Amino acid sequence: MSAAQQTLPVIPYPQEVVYGKGILTLSNKATIGYNNPQLAGMAELLKMGLGNGQSLLLQVIKSQQAPENGISLQLISDPTLQEEGYRLVVSSNGILISGNTAAGVFYGTQTLLQMMTPDKKLQALSIKDEPRFSYRGMMLDVARHFQPVSYVKQLLDQLAMLKINRFHWHLTEDQGWRIEIKKYPKLTEKGAWRNGTIVGHHPGTGNTNERYGGFYTQEEVKEVVQYAAARFITVIPEIEMPGHSGAAIAAYPWLSCFPNEATIVPHHPSLQTMREAGKQVQESWGVYEDVYVPSEQTFQFLQDVIDEIIPLFPSPYIHIGGDECPKESWKRSEFCQQLIKEKGLKDEHGLQSYFISRMEQYINSKGKKIIGWDEILEGGLAPNATVMSWRGENGGIEAAQQHHDVIMTPTSNCYFDYSQTKNEDSLVIGGFLPLEQVYGYEPVPEALSDKPEAKYVLGTQANVWTEYIPNNRKLEYMLYPRLAALAEVAWTEKKAKNWHRFQSQIPSFLQRLDKAGIHYSKAFYELSAEIKPIPSGAGVVWHLDSKQPDANIVVTTPSGSKKIYTTPVPINATGKWVASLEQRGKILSTIKQDFELHKAVGKTVAVHPLPARKYSGNNGANGLVNGASSNNGLISAEWLGWEGKDMEATIDLGEVQTINQVVLHTMEAQGSWIYRPAEISISTSNDGVQYQKVTMVKGDAIPGGNDLRKVVLGTLGTEARFVKIYVKHFGIIPTGMPGAGHSAWIFVDEIAVY
Ligand code: ACM
Repeated sequence: MSAAQQTLPVIPYPQEVVYGKGILTLSNKATIGYNNPQLAGMAELLKMGLGNGQSLLLQVIKSQQAPENGISLQLISDPTLQEEGYRLVVSSNGILISGNTAAGVFYGTQTLLQMMTPDKKLQALSIKDEPRFSYRGMMLDVARHFQPVSYVKQLLDQLAMLKINRFHWHLTEDQGWRIEIKKYPKLTEKGAWRNGTIVGHHPGTGNTNERYGGFYTQEEVKEVVQYAAARFITVIPEIEMPGHSGAAIAAYPWLSCFPNEATIVPHHPSLQTMREAGKQVQESWGVYEDVYVPSEQTFQFLQDVIDEIIPLFPSPYIHIGGDECPKESWKRSEFCQQLIKEKGLKDEHGLQSYFISRMEQYINSKGKKIIGWDEILEGGLAPNATVMSWRGENGGIEAAQQHHDVIMTPTSNCYFDYSQTKNEDSLVIGGFLPLEQVYGYEPVPEALSDKPEAKYVLGTQANVWTEYIPNNRKLEYMLYPRLAALAEVAWTEKKAKNWHRFQSQIPSFLQRLDKAGIHYSKAFYELSAEIKPIPSGAGVVWHLDSKQPDANIVVTTPSGSKKIYTTPVPINATGKWVASLEQRGKILSTIKQDFELHKAVGKTVAVHPLPARKYSGNNGANGLVNGASSNNGLISAEWLGWEGKDMEATIDLGEVQTINQVVLHTMEAQGSWIYRPAEISISTSNDGVQYQKVTMVKGDAIPGGNDLRKVVLGTLGTEARFVKIYVKHFGIIPTGMPGAGHSAWIFVDEIAVY
């Protein structure tokens, strides 16, 4: 048997596969049998799956006997298998799928569906498989953009195929309330609809002025929950509090600290004249100050909502949000300040903790547990809460150390609203999260890996925020194939994980999506580029690569000459370089890169401190002097980013030279917490020991604004070999801005020396 045959077309990959001798051919005469009524539903689903996918028309029979040459589903008692585990045995006599639970047997059927081939032949083999993590999730935000029940069901089918067992349904937001609550009809009469949506990337260039919205009736919710349950998926509803609650406040203004204050809707100049004043469902993205007032009336409201939520969702968990709750309104509110005193709380963070703990108590009293985003750690964690760690891993580590359950969803590996290509041509929120980075994720952080607290990490989840995902085609484009990678991170043990094997499965996985009419990103096949210094400071070379077979990479220089790529290309001219992936005369993808050959290109550079892992540039510090700036806005791999830190870079030009000018290529994007530096200074040296400061700019002398790209520091006219550039970060993000109270990021993609 060839090595290729040894890779099963199954994602997530099973833990153990042993190949046997012989071939089974399934025919329409075969039957599907099962030994327990709990398996009846999945037997029908398997029949449907084989019918749709493989045009096999099998009959389902309830039989204790394994059907001859057919498929037998069996509930068994096997102490060597975990709860969701299964065994799948293919022999020339038939197929046996067994597990201790219906869920286990179901996962066996999903594996079989992926293994079936058009010729209906299966190699004899034996699989023993079970999940690494019990929580394997996907979150969908249906508040920024809505998805109808019919589509949610299609999505659930896909989750089941990938053995994802938690669907986290983000149902309430500033931009819409999406679930019917009978006691509070205005939540959906008013709260489910906004009068417009910003156009373009936040903060936007205008407003659609079109009414947008939708919601699920309780009957529809029951239908979704039931559909999910048949596929062994638990639906976890998220009802956000105390922040991100603008739609509820628009419906019932008494939920706000300031019921009479009109909602500020950015990019909405006509609000006061053409539309109703007062509280509005938000039409722009971001974080808003108008949050729930922690009054008795609000708690009664939220308890009433929870009372209607609980009977709809058998999930043991209710997600209560807890993220991004600005404290400005609570600071301004006399009522809140009085409450802080009365309850002996330390400050507004204490008030948030009080809010969450009170709701937790209520939810616990109804026999359910809460999950919250990692901000619920601030001011003290509610006693039984599970933490969803999104702002990196630290929240998860801290919660596990406090012996709380944790679900790891750090932005760096789990945020599927980020771009998966450096050549993104659609509107996305920002960030860069390629397939390989999802696949490479290890949900148990190093700080916990050899500790008993590792057991508190229940699993991981892909989060899909939908500000820039207006329809299901775009949703699929953002999900696939990354969801396959996340599924394997959540399911497959480290010893069975293998990027090269997984990568080899992607083409057939994508073909399967094609067949099912599911859209996906083709970033996997795109050209990838890296810029590396030539040793001894002699410039840089452009490394290009593609996974597409039978295609050429063609490089076009700034002067227009073309060459088929064979080895890394030395960059010997300033201007636009183009690399195209070409197959039989068709261009599959293109990278355009502006290079500028200044004095520091390819020279030795050191940076302190190191940039954040997720913004570590093209080849780390080398990327600061590679002649390439980001041509693709925030998502470019060229950016090096530092969060709340000052940075210093030292460039060794190799010999003493005249330095006339230094240009810092930087960026301000306040919506993404990235600010212009507070101060930039340059020092030079001949020996790398004694430095002299040659220039400094600070404050308003540094131009700002969202189009900031270059800060020119010259005319210097200094003779030196070493150039040191010190960049001080902006400081704390001001009140009223996204990320207020956090330290600003510095972004730098090039330091040019002339
Ligand atoms: C989040 O991304 N605000 C949880």
